[in-house]
Amino acid sequence: MATTEPLTIDLLDPASFAHGQPHDQFRWLRANAPVFRHPEPDGPGFWAVTRYEDVRAVGRDPETFSSVPTTMIPDPIEGFGFGDHQMMLMSDPPHHTRLRRTINRQFTPRAAERLRLRVRELARRIVDAVVDRGECDFVTDVAGEMPSFVIADLLGLPLDDGRRLYQLTEAIHAAPESQPEGAALGAVIEMFNYAHDVAEQRRRDPGDDLASALLASEVDGEPLDDIDFNLFFILLVDAGGDTTRNLVGGGLLALFEHADERRRLQTDVDGMLPTAIEEMLRWVSPVIYMRRTAARDITLAGTDIAAGDKVVMYYGSANRDERAFPEPDRFDVGRQPNDHVAFGGGGPHFCLGAHLARIEIHELLHEVLTRMPDLEPAGPAEWLPSNFISGPKHLPVRFTPGRR
Ligand code: HEM
Repeated sequence: MATTEPLTIDLLDPASFAHGQPHDQFRWLRANAPVFRHPEPDGPGFWAVTRYEDVRAVGRDPETFSSVPTTMIPDPIEGFGFGDHQMMLMSDPPHHTRLRRTINRQFTPRAAERLRLRVRELARRIVDAVVDRGECDFVTDVAGEMPSFVIADLLGLPLDDGRRLYQLTEAIHAAPESQPEGAALGAVIEMFNYAHDVAEQRRRDPGDDLASALLASEVDGEPLDDIDFNLFFILLVDAGGDTTRNLVGGGLLALFEHADERRRLQTDVDGMLPTAIEEMLRWVSPVIYMRRTAARDITLAGTDIAAGDKVVMYYGSANRDERAFPEPDRFDVGRQPNDHVAFGGGGPHFCLGAHLARIEIHELLHEVLTRMPDLEPAGPAEWLPSNFISGPKHLPVRFTPGRR
């Protein structure tokens, strides 16, 4: 039930996300202040947008709500920009449209479907590696392996390098206080150096992979330069890594916490998995927010927003909006319709990897649920200390070993 008593609202403190998304805060905001002026200790503050319709309206109107200079709440640090270059995620049409055109074709439903058999083979390999052990950390040993292998495959890299790149994305997303000073910047630099080496190698010897395709593409008649390539590389590795991992880890946790729903799914894995995955996406919402910046004065849900203000869309809140979903706090593996916004609200930045992500999630969970059917928690889940990406970081599990 919504209360009229103001709660302590703090959507910046990673502690608010230490046990999953702060649904009590979101519920209060949706009911009482759907466009809420949130203070920011080291910045001007931002508008927190928490209702489903408003999140979709902001995401679908890039002329009013710009992705430049960044989609993160803190502004870019002076002197650490990339000149005229923009990462696709942090650009607006028409430049965004031109950037997206360079890789769109590799991510269509048909292109993703062509990868299904390979993804299935990877799922088998991941489960083979743990199935005899009887216990493992489900997040690092199972869920995290899939996106790191898939991105390595897509870019034509050794699978082990995918693991390393993926560890770097963790350091980029983690809250500064949770790791040594400079760790995030160090990770960006290591990633750029790696991307640079890949570009040099592929220019000399192009292959049938996404890195070579990017290097062969043109924007406005010009080939991508090193900085554009690096920004694409970091975006691709970053965007599909802990998002997919957290969905699989957080989805399994939701099954542990809802025994009836788990039974429903496990008695008909083939039939129910597609709707169960959509419900996991709604429930977990691995991307907590994306920011926009108002390009002009605008009124949203009765609140005046000034040009230049930061506007932040909270996907996890929109996905529990009682105006959009009946019984939003019920985890229902058969929920239909389920028009969630875990991949974005449908604007030009809608997740490029959505089809591929669904295939990765499907193949991995199918393998896990059929070969490790008695999987159970072996200790408490530890959550990622981040106000941007949500999901368990560690999830100890045990199971009867040896289903081959
Ligand atoms: C469960 C997994 C995933 C979730 C929840 C997720 C979520 C999102 C969200 C919320 C956005 C921003 C949408 C917007 O601003 O409207 C986004 C953008 C993006 N995602 Fe994903 N994503 C996932 C997996 C992936 C994968 C596997 C890839 C690729 C390998 C990928 C690549 C991208 C890219 C490139 C963008 C930027 C698109 C643009 O700016 O035009 N994502 N994703």
